[in-house]
Amino acid sequence: MNACEYIPGLENIPAAKSSISFVDGQDGILEYRGISIQELANKSSFLECAYLLIWDQLPTQSQLEAFESEIRYHRRVKYRIRDMMKCFPETGHPMDALQTSAAALGLFYARRALDDPEYIRQAVVRLLAKIPTMVAAFHQMRRGNDPVQPHDKLDYGANFLYMLTERKPNALAAKVFDVCLTLHAEHTMNASTFSAMVTASTLTDPYAVIASAVGTLAGPLHGGANEEVLVMLEEIGSVEKVSPYIEKRVANKEKIMGFGHRVYKVKDPRATILQGLAEQLFEETGRDEYYEIALELERVVEEKFGQKGIYANVDFYSGLVYRKLGIPTDLFTPIFAIARVAGWLAHWKEQLAVNRIFRPTQVYVGSHNMPYIPIEKRV
Ligand code: CMC
Repeated sequence: MNACEYIPGLENIPAAKSSISFVDGQDGILEYRGISIQELANKSSFLECAYLLIWDQLPTQSQLEAFESEIRYHRRVKYRIRDMMKCFPETGHPMDALQTSAAALGLFYARRALDDPEYIRQAVVRLLAKIPTMVAAFHQMRRGNDPVQPHDKLDYGANFLYMLTERKPNALAAKVFDVCLTLHAEHTMNASTFSAMVTASTLTDPYAVIASAVGTLAGPLHGGANEEVLVMLEEIGSVEKVSPYIEKRVANKEKIMGFGHRVYKVKDPRATILQGLAEQLFEETGRDEYYEIALELERVVEEKFGQKGIYANVDFYSGLVYRKLGIPTDLFTPIFAIARVAGWLAHWKEQLAVNRIFRPTQVYVGSHNMPYIPIEKRV
């Protein structure tokens, strides 16, 4: 490859060597540390997957229990962080609140040597423990309520749902939510992970690493798409309006949210699992009115764009699951962040072992030797 060749979006350019996760976009395969996502979704839990991703091994029973109980212990956030969050405008987006709060953690936990395994472990535990608490706290406070304190008897995902609603979720809701977190925990070199790694490569603190990744995830081409999907289903409103809606969007050169992927050229395996989870919830609590619209939308998009390799991605069905769980639309992307913290931390830890600062180049297309024009002569 020509050293100066510019590839928009760095398509197909490796940015790291990694053993954390693997995607085969032609066959629709996703693995965490070599284990298929289907197997993990069926048999594992989010925190076990987080451990697997970060420490490159499935934990023993006692390792898992110690990890879970340490995270449980660190779930609360300092009152000063809660006070800071109380000053956030209630109309602000929860992703902005999360990015700010994640960065604020760095004010409270002193930076230590990045080759200290104990510091790495503490940062991992604190971030996994506190990010859900901060998302739920902002949600409560923007409605004028005090944050709901974490529930010591509830598991990771169930506790988050509890902090959002002050009600314990039933077993199916807790299980489905935990699987959603597992599915979103990691996904190779996506934009937010790359952003985390660029930030990490300067050897800054882990809270800054996560804050920059949260900011990147928020965009509608990345994690923000799950929220946009629900907005789109709402806008369409009925099954008959799907085809004209797609035609209009295509005519306006607008993307269909929740479809397409840089790597997958078939249906994202996570979308298939999420669709199954949505159906499990519908069996218990009735079908969602938007599900028929979603099915028709998927059919029409596949018919129109399937030959271009554009199929449903992870963001297409996740919103329907969250909606059925009673979660407000603007918390969908923060939930993606809660899960992806595991992957970001795994890449942070992997990179520290071989770090070199990211410093790519550019192809300069500007002028040279331009005169400096005094201000009074400028037009
Ligand atoms: N709807 C309609 N056309 C599409 C779509 C879509 N959702 N996605 C890609 N295309 C077309 C695009 O118009 C282009 O066509 P042409 O070659 O004729 O100009 C071609 O497919 C390639 O698209 P691209 O935008 O160059 O592809 P990319 O690899 O740069 O972008 C993507 C990937 C995910 C940003 C894009 O598919 C997209 O914007 N999708 C909608 C937003 C979305 O659902 N994002 C979530 C992604 S998955 C989870 C995550 O990463 O967070």
